[in-house]
Amino acid sequence: MKQDWFAKNYRNPQLARAEFERTLDVYDKVAEAKPLRLRIAKPMKVNNSTAYFERITDCINLRKLICNIRVDTEVLYYTGQALAELHSALNPQINCLDENISIHGDFSATNVLYMPSKNLIYIVDFAPYRYDNSESYSYAPAYRDLAHLVLTLEIKYPIYKIHLVARKKNREMSAMFWEGYENVIGRKIDRDKLYEFVIKEIDSTKKLFRKRHLLTRFVWTKVFDRTMQRYINLKES
Ligand SMILES: Nc1ncnc2c1ncn2[C@@H]1O[C@H](COP(=O)(O)OP(=O)(O)O)[C@@H](O)[C@H]1O
Ligand SMILES: [Mg+2]
Repeated sequence: MKQDWFAKNYRNPQLARAEFERTLDVYDKVAEAKPLRLRIAKPMKVNNSTAYFERITDCINLRKLICNIRVDTEVLYYTGQALAELHSALNPQINCLDENISIHGDFSATNVLYMPSKNLIYIVDFAPYRYDNSESYSYAPAYRDLAHLVLTLEIKYPIYKIHLVARKKNREMSAMFWEGYENVIGRKIDRDKLYEFVIKEIDSTKKLFRKRHLLTRFVWTKVFDRTMQRYINLKES
């Protein structure tokens, strides 16, 4: 029988407790905000180096979904709406996208699950972004989460799916994601600021790729450079 909890193991009990407690705080604030699109898996208990969460069922991982040839971009719109609901729930006083607020911090497609039967979005993994040792990983402008998803939507495809990086659809997915966010947050995202953050995210992630397999590194470096250049041109246009 399939267990109704999801067990997540960590390197040590401190990390398990840190993520468990952060998720509990997020869960309570989101429950209070009564969002329409967003759901958080309920944290159940923590025991040594393992944290237990409510198991999410009947969902598709967004990363898996975008690796298909055909993608329904509506899901990206829902993802943007869910992220705006998360930011609003965590920061009820939010009035400007420039200020530092409590954000997700590692908003990549693997941490987004879509439930087709109810059109709901689960956001998971409220752990520190593993490449970022700074204390402020989850306290930054909303633009950070909005820019970070571009890495998965437009660049980091598995090597056996590398033909997908050239898809026009990838850019449409980013655009739909930002539109969904604007729809819920009720104001326009400053595109120049957003592109600045995208360029920053691409640049800092590119630097961390030295340890990858040679072929992956070669291909991804090209895609990193091309995507970054496109955003530089957009910013300057
Ligand atoms: N509560 C849950 N129920 C079901 N699946 C989950 C749950 N939380 C995460 N997952 C799945 O497990 C994967 C890894 O979990 P995640 O918390 O993101 O760990 P990691 O820190 O290793 O990225 C996610 O990408 C998601 O597909
Ligand atoms: Mg994850």
